[in-house]
Order: sequence, then structure tokens, then C-alpha cells
Amino acid sequence: MQSQLTKILQEAKEQLIKASSMPEIEEIRVKMLGKKSQLTEILRSMGTLAPEERKELGQSANHVRAEIEKMLEEKFSGMKGTLREAKFKLERVDVTEPGVQEALGAKHPITITINEISKVFMSMGYSVAEGPEIETVFNNFDALNAPANHPSRDYSDTFYVTESTLLRTHTSPVQARTLLSEEPPIKIISPGRCFRRDTPDATHSPMFHQVEGILVDEGVTMADLKGTLDYFAKQIFAPNVKTKFRPHYFPFTEPSAEMDVSCFKCGGTGCRVCKGSGWIEILGCGMVHPNVLQVGDIDVEKYTGFAFGMGVERIAMLKYGVDDIRLFYENDMRFINQFK
Ligand code: DAH
Repeated sequence: MQSQLTKILQEAKEQLIKASSMPEIEEIRVKMLGKKSQLTEILRSMGTLAPEERKELGQSANHVRAEIEKMLEEKFSGMKGTLREAKFKLERVDVTEPGVQEALGAKHPITITINEISKVFMSMGYSVAEGPEIETVFNNFDALNAPANHPSRDYSDTFYVTESTLLRTHTSPVQARTLLSEEPPIKIISPGRCFRRDTPDATHSPMFHQVEGILVDEGVTMADLKGTLDYFAKQIFAPNVKTKFRPHYFPFTEPSAEMDVSCFKCGGTGCRVCKGSGWIEILGCGMVHPNVLQVGDIDVEKYTGFAFGMGVERIAMLKYGVDDIRLFYENDMRFINQFK
């Protein structure tokens, strides 16, 4: 029996050296110390032995048991350490790594330009009004005094949604909406998207943006119009630009004009930007036609007003030196990021 005990201890040692996982260690424990193990059997049979033999063998068996328990414990804590180390290795974070750069968005140049234009007019006390992109034919044309046969009403120029609704061709219908819903004094601008059936090229896009403006009050004259728009041009382009008003025609204003600014690139001597003329056309404007004021039931004996409308893309192209309108809609990050 003594030699059997020595063998058990030896076997436990060998098996534990080979064991490489927690379940294996547990298996060895059950096999060597469990109820059905050889060692348990030996301890159980102790009662049949003579007292002195029992004492000696009992001591040996208990010693073997304690030895195996110690070895199991050592192997167990060693394994725990190894596992923890492996886990740490797996979860290790290198805090010196540069990290992942979040892709930050940038404001679109059209948004930037609309904001700049709005800021100038807001500083003069204008509020911002908005209108829908799908408009009634009435607000887009009739209310604005457009003759029934005006060419811009053509199907070839305008996207109609139904017979009486369309994608607005300009922001001017917001004038009609404001006149219908508000009493003078009226002082608003209205930025927004417009649509025309144009074939895209370097200067045309079927979708584009305008900023509209209208002011109605007692005693408003053309001088107010000129002073306001001259101040606007100096704020948006450069403090030293000059403005020039050329007679023009719009159905909704009388008299009507187009405003040019002296070329802020060459100072008026002539260059590529102003096409050699020294002047750049910026916007349309005029004194609000009495027929338009009457749509809003406004007393035309008491009130007068001026209005204006400008293309945002055109202003952005001039300000930033962009030579193709289509660049604004391609969403190429290399283009957009230049305006950060
Ligand atoms: N609606 C005109 C256009 O799209 C621009 C315009 C001109 C607006 C004169 C106005 C104005 O309010 O008075 O070309």
C-alpha cells in the first residue's frame, strides 16, 4: 500500500505538469481526490488494518492527500495568473496611438452666403420669412402682376406640379404671402430654394437659391431702396465698392432696376471677373407695383414699398471665385472643406 501511495503522488504530479486548462485541473482533482479515487479507497480501507499499521499508513495517506491538494492549489493559482495575463494582453490599449479622427462637417458655401446676406439685413432690422418650395401659380405669377402670357409661365421654363401649383421659380411669392398676412410696416427678407427648367451648365442649374426682400411703409422712396442696397453691397463685398442702378423691367415693380457693383477684383479697371466692364450685375429691384400691394389690400395712397431679389449662387461664385455653379451641388468634400 505504501508503494501504491507513492505511485498516486507521482501520477498526480505528472498529470498536473501536463494540465493546461482549468477543466483539466478539475478533472485531475476529481480523479485523484474524489469519492471514487484510489486514495479515498485506501483511506476507507484503513479500518481493516492493525492499529500500528493503520497509524503509519494513515499518516502517509494524509500526507499524500495534503501534497496533492497543495500541488492542485499551486497549479490553480498559476493558471489563474496566466489567464489574467492573457486577458490583459487582449484588452491592452495603446494610449500613445493617435486615435481615430472624427469626420467633422463644414457649412456649405451656399449656407454661409445666405447667412452673411441675412446678417446684413437683420442688422438693418429685417426679419426672416420663409415660404414653401411648392407654390400656387397665383402666388408665383398672378399676385406678382405677371401678365397671363408672360414667357416665364411656360411649361418649358417652369416645373408644374399640377395646373395650379408649381415649384416656385423665384422667392418673390413670399412677397405676396407676407402682404396677404401682415400689415405695414413690413420689413422682411426671404432666403430659399427656387427651380427652373434650365439645362445645367457653368452658370445654370435647375435648382438654385435666392434671397428676396420687401419693405413697405409710409413715405418709402427709391432713395431708400438705393441707400439700403448700396449699404448691403459695401457690407457683402468691400467697403469701397460703388453701386449703379440701371433701368430694367420686372412685372412686380415699377420702376424696376438692376444693381451693379464696381468690380471688387480689379477696382473697376476691367478684368476676367467683370468681363472687362468694371461692373458686375448683382440683383434686381424696384418700387413695389401698386397692383401687388393691392393683393394684400394695402392702401396704395398711404403706403409705398421697395423690393429686391438676388441669386445666392451668383454672389457666392463672385465672392469665392467659383467658376462653375455645378460645383456647389456635387458634394465633393475637397470643395466643401475649403470653406471651413
Ligand atoms: N424675382 C426676380 C427674379 O427671379 C428677382 C427680383 C427682381 C425680385 C426685382 C424682386 C425685385 O423682388 O423687386 O429674377
